[in-house]
Amino acid sequence: MSEERRKVTIRTLLRKKREGEKITWVVLYDYPTAVLADEAGVDMVLIGDSLGMTVLGYPTTLPVTMDEMLHHTRAVVRGIKYAFIVGDMPFMSYQPSIKDAIENAGKFLKAGCDAVKMEGGAEIADRVKAIVEFGIPVIGHLGLTPQKVSMLGGYMVQSSDAISAKRILDDAKALEGAGAFAVLLENVPEEVGKIVVKETGLITFGIGGGPYCDGQLLLSPDILGLTIGVKPWFAKSYANLREIILNAFKEYCREVREKVYPSKEYIAHMKEGEYEKLIKMIGRG
Ligand code: KIV
Repeated sequence: MSEERRKVTIRTLLRKKREGEKITWVVLYDYPTAVLADEAGVDMVLIGDSLGMTVLGYPTTLPVTMDEMLHHTRAVVRGIKYAFIVGDMPFMSYQPSIKDAIENAGKFLKAGCDAVKMEGGAEIADRVKAIVEFGIPVIGHLGLTPQKVSMLGGYMVQSSDAISAKRILDDAKALEGAGAFAVLLENVPEEVGKIVVKETGLITFGIGGGPYCDGQLLLSPDILGLTIGVKPWFAKSYANLREIILNAFKEYCREVREKVYPSKEYIAHMKEGEYEKLIKMIGRG
């Protein structure tokens, strides 16, 4: 007998970590993919500020606004029945002040999210603490943090040496101390994932963070083979929708140009005799 499916909560995620059951997490931006991902049984979804690059055509995540995030968040929320929903705090929605951080995190919860994700470690601990105190669960994001791309100088693997790996561990502990329940490690060696899982109580997710993490995250365009631009080295595609979509558009253009479409099953007709009446009405009969 199959178990009744229930809404995923923090308790579900903590149980999965405790029992060693890997957690699945995908980045989504719209209603149709939300409906399908939820039906497929993903545990968690993130409305990521990667929206800027994957959907809105910006060169980085930096221009993404709260309004843009909330617009797409509402679309995803409408498509989800079961998955745990995380909203991604965009650049400058939490950096300027604790007040900004609380207000903007609250907007994600009002839009239907279950938690928010924020990039950074010790430097945002005061924001994380304040948000958590108001009952909003927080996931930290360490390693390659795209909102700091100018400082990092690109999207390369982070923390391959002991000193910078220690910094990630210290940041993870600072997030945990501030009340975050989870952390996402992006583009780091597997040893970093291993040590964070071992040394903290945080639910640890990896996006290019190796197999020791409690769960994995990937962007839906990468999973679906719909990446426009450069695909990260760690992203595995499970379909090639780019080719399927490209061929469908090409085929549509060909059929219209060659007058194949619309063929008779796609054509509507007036009621019998009405066309003849029309012709008379306009004096052409
Ligand atoms: O915005 C996003 O999709 C993210 C992932 C890259 C982790 O933050």
